[in-house]
Amino acid sequence: MITVALSKGRLFDDFIKYIEGQGLKKYSEVLRGESRTLFTLVDDVRFIFAKGPDVPVYVERGAADIGIVGSDILDEEDFEYLNVSGLPFGRCHFALAGPPNIDHFNTVASKYINIARKYFNQEQEAVSLIHLNGSVELAPILGLADGIVDIVQTGNTLKDNGLIEYKKITEVQARLIANKQTFYTKEEEIYKFISEIGVIA
Ligand code: PRP
Ligand code: MG
Repeated sequence: MITVALSKGRLFDDFIKYIEGQGLKKYSEVLRGESRTLFTLVDDVRFIFAKGPDVPVYVERGAADIGIVGSDILDEEDFEYLNVSGLPFGRCHFALAGPPNIDHFNTVASKYINIARKYFNQEQEAVSLIHLNGSVELAPILGLADGIVDIVQTGNTLKDNGLIEYKKITEVQARLIANKQTFYTKEEEIYKFISEIGVIA
C-alpha cells in the first residue's frame, strides 16, 4: 500500500477534476464522497486529506509516500522531499497588492512571510512585514499595512476588496512530491500510481 497526502481546499477540487479528466473514475468517485473521514482506501492506494502546509510534513517523515501540494507551500518553508513533477492545475501567482495610489510600501502583511521577505530582499527594499494567517486583504483596508503579498488566482478577492496588483512575484502550480526513501523502496507501487494519474508516461 502507498499513502498519498492530498491538500484539502481548492487544490483538492482541482485534483479531482484532473483525475476525472484522466478517466480515473475509481479514484474520483470515492474522493468526491461526502464523508468527514480524513482518509480513504482505493485498491492499494490510501488517500489522506490534510491541510496544505501539513502535506510536506507527512511526506518528509514518511507518514505519506506521495504528496500533492501547491508550490506556494513548498516555497514558503524548507522540507526534505523529492520534487517529482509539476502538475497541470492549481495555477496562480504571488503578487504584491494594495490600494490604488501607493507610492511606497513601508509595511506589508502576508501569510507567506518567507516568500515576502525573499522578494523584498531581492528588490533591496526595506519593508516591515506583518504575519497574518489569512484574509490578508483586510490589512491594507484597516491601515494595518500598506499592502499585501498574497496569492492571486482569478483576481476577484483583490477586486472585491478594492485592491490592485502592483507586481507579479512568482508563479504557483500544484506539485507532486515524494518521500526520499519510500520513493525507492516502494518504487513499483509508486510508479504504478503516478503513471496512472498521468505524471509519467
Ligand atoms: C486565497 C488568497 C487570496 C484568494 C485569491 O485566499 O489568499 O485571498 O484566495 O483568489 P482569487 O484571486 O481567485 O480571488 P483563500 O480564500 O484561499 O483563504 P485565506 O486567505 O484565508 O488563506
Ligand atoms: Mg485569501
